[in-house]
Amino acid sequence: MNRGVEEVGRIFGDVGLGQFHVSLSRPVERGDYLAVDDEMHGRVLCQLDDLKRKSDFDLERAGALGPTDTAAIHESLLGLARIVGYRDEQGLVKCPTIPFRPGSHVFRAEEPLIADVLGLKHRANSGAYVGLLRNHNLRVELDINQLVQRHVSVLAKTGGGKSYLLGVLIEELLRHRVTCVIIDPHGEYGSLRFPAEKNGGHARFGVESQGFARQVQEYSPDPSLNPTAKPLTFSLRHLDPRDLLVFMGLTSVKTFLAPLKQLVERVGASSPEYTVHDLVRAAEGGEGAIAETLHERLEYVEQTKLLGPVGTSLSELVKKGDATLINLRGVAPDVQELVVARIASTLFDARKKDKIPPLFLVVEEAHNFAPQQGSAACSRVMKAIASEGRKFGLGLCCVTQRAARIDKSVLSQCNTQLILQVTNPLDLKAIAQSIEGLTAGMTEMIQSLPVGTALITGGGYHTPLFCEVRPRATRHGGESVQIVAA
Ligand SMILES: Nc1ncnc2c1ncn2[C@@H]1O[C@H](COP(=O)(O)OP(=O)(O)OP(=O)(O)O)[C@@H](O)[C@H]1O
Ligand SMILES: [Mg+2]
Repeated sequence: MNRGVEEVGRIFGDVGLGQFHVSLSRPVERGDYLAVDDEMHGRVLCQLDDLKRKSDFDLERAGALGPTDTAAIHESLLGLARIVGYRDEQGLVKCPTIPFRPGSHVFRAEEPLIADVLGLKHRANSGAYVGLLRNHNLRVELDINQLVQRHVSVLAKTGGGKSYLLGVLIEELLRHRVTCVIIDPHGEYGSLRFPAEKNGGHARFGVESQGFARQVQEYSPDPSLNPTAKPLTFSLRHLDPRDLLVFMGLTSVKTFLAPLKQLVERVGASSPEYTVHDLVRAAEGGEGAIAETLHERLEYVEQTKLLGPVGTSLSELVKKGDATLINLRGVAPDVQELVVARIASTLFDARKKDKIPPLFLVVEEAHNFAPQQGSAACSRVMKAIASEGRKFGLGLCCVTQRAARIDKSVLSQCNTQLILQVTNPLDLKAIAQSIEGLTAGMTEMIQSLPVGTALITGGGYHTPLFCEVRPRATRHGGESVQIVAA
């Protein structure tokens, strides 16, 4: 929707270096891009951050008006614009260091200027095409290397479009043969195998329907509930007693590690093919509080049925260029935490030793796996990956509807944020605190974003931008359940 070099108003009042007021002669929407000619640097890109309609129709005049009277009202449309910048000869984005002159003409920005200053360009090898710049036909492509190296968060209220957008992102990663592991608590992502039914949006966004059946594999600790998934188990004998403590939900390594080690060694010496049941039996009747706790927690581990004689191997679980879904639908929350703890630590360890390709670990409902209050069995490894994963080519993507409930140290490490509509004040506060360069106007806009429009920060862009998410090439699996027929 490029409207050329249309003049929309004039700068008035005191002019700052970061923002200025504009008296608008044409309607412009909040978030639209504007341009001002600078004497030294040429055309500078700006963005409308706030709008107000001022009038001389005050309370007194309104009160004096009868029901059928008409009033002559003088009104003007005033905007607050922020300066985005211009590109200098070296290609760097800079802002003028002398304020614009009051009275300067303000234009609607042309698409080539927007694309140049924002850095919107086609990256054939490294671009994840997620949608079009809001109200324009400019492609927004996220830099895949940055996504993996600098982590991602997808934040929105429930029903805001997180899973849909994540599906778009995973399609792009699969197209570029980036290896992914997806923690899928609701079993939503199996639909990545199937092409979407086309709709009108597909043509505008230039998207072809496509399924990724060959690149998607699915595992579940409970394949009876999830028949498309292969069984996921972990090998007891490959488990260090320290890791076994995690499964047992025991955090005091000092108290429990030595006695557990002794128990495992004793059982292993008499039966090398031992099972969790053998450990339970051996722990039975032990004297003292520690032995009793070990027995009780081993019984719990036996019930989870996660530990078998032969576990799912790492080479089965991670296939270069493919997406592995860990379908946790119907699995108890405490067992989900154990699965995430084991998978995340195995992947992290394998990446440190370069045994698996660089990969992207997606965690849906991340507030459950790295909570801000209390802790989950996988909290520690989630924090470790958030702070150190990038060094080892393990990118983390946290998806949550409660930004306020996810561990702040994890959220603040996610340098690319994909934000859809958020209305909860606590979540908005958490988002505003974790993102640089978010203006008050943008924070307000987040509250009323329509479904399918995202605010993107990072991802290779130096300034936050609004993006209309492209339609899915694959089927979306997160449709709400209809309770009564429509
Ligand atoms: N970009 C989009 N284009 C078209 N429809 C969309 C888009 N994003 C989301 N939707 C629709 O909005 C609905 C909710 O989206 P989605 O399932 O992604 O929400 P969510 O944020 O993951 O919700 P929840 O918190 O419940 O998991 C879906 O029915 C989906 O079809
Ligand atoms: Mg969802």
